[in-house]
Amino acid sequence: MNKTARKVAIIGTGFVGSSIAYAIVNQGICNELVLIDVNQNKAEGEALDLADGIAWADTKTTIYAGDYADCKDAALVILTAGINQKPGQSRLDLVDTNAKITEQVTTEIMASGFDGIIIVASNPVDVMTYIAWQASGLPFNRVIGTGTILDTARFKKEIALKLNVDPRIVQGYIIGEHGDSETAVWSHTTVGGKPIIEWDNITADDLNTIYVSVRDAAYEIIDRKQATYYGIGMSTARLVRAILNNENTILPVSAFQRGEYGEIGLFTGTPALINETGLRQIIALNLTAVEQVNFETSVNQLRLTIQSLDS
Ligand code: 2OP
Repeated sequence: MNKTARKVAIIGTGFVGSSIAYAIVNQGICNELVLIDVNQNKAEGEALDLADGIAWADTKTTIYAGDYADCKDAALVILTAGINQKPGQSRLDLVDTNAKITEQVTTEIMASGFDGIIIVASNPVDVMTYIAWQASGLPFNRVIGTGTILDTARFKKEIALKLNVDPRIVQGYIIGEHGDSETAVWSHTTVGGKPIIEWDNITADDLNTIYVSVRDAAYEIIDRKQATYYGIGMSTARLVRAILNNENTILPVSAFQRGEYGEIGLFTGTPALINETGLRQIIALNLTAVEQVNFETSVNQLRLTIQSLDS
């Protein structure tokens, strides 16, 4: 594999791409970061601005604006190009426009000779990951969507607020579509090892309120500031760290399904072992009957969306 160790390319320097870049640089995750955008000036401006902070960072990162040829020796390319939701729009409403952009951008990346791992963050992310995988010709384990990693962070945060505990000790996952049909896996949600449903001060209504807050979080933010970017910035940086540091950790990402949850041939959010090879393996949890039906409904929604693009 012709890769420069710890070189990352970000395609798209809007709010999401720039926030991912900022999180990566702050956490000292890579040693070379190239920013690519159709608006070259914007990419240059972001690179200059980010580079101004390096003197105070823990690790030195070389940051510059480039073009697709710079993807050739990258270990990782992160796709953020595309339009974002406007107030009142769902992620699936973006599918037609972003499908064309994702296909075109992936083709350009591959034309550089790139042979690393692609992370997709553009929405609707599960569908865009499928398109990037198809357009790239890469093995499925080297194309990963950010999926429900952000929703899971929101889930941990909401539970932590309710119980007044550290979100980092909450164990649990949101799975399925990164979007309106996502599913909370309550049966495997624990806090300090204790199942959430056994905590004294939590009721069925509380669980529903938490789920709705997580599912609708992006709408709440977009209503107020027209976009979301810090949460996805930190979530994507977490995934990049897991890959570049060969962590063999488990994160909920949009992963290619091969029957682990009864679904085959498309990408959606499920917990997965992540290391320097990309997706090592999906972690299959035993879902309750209700969780399984919810997951299948979510995946069917994604399948219909993909089919609508094919037709
Ligand atoms: C988010 O969930 C909009 O997908 C973006 O923040």
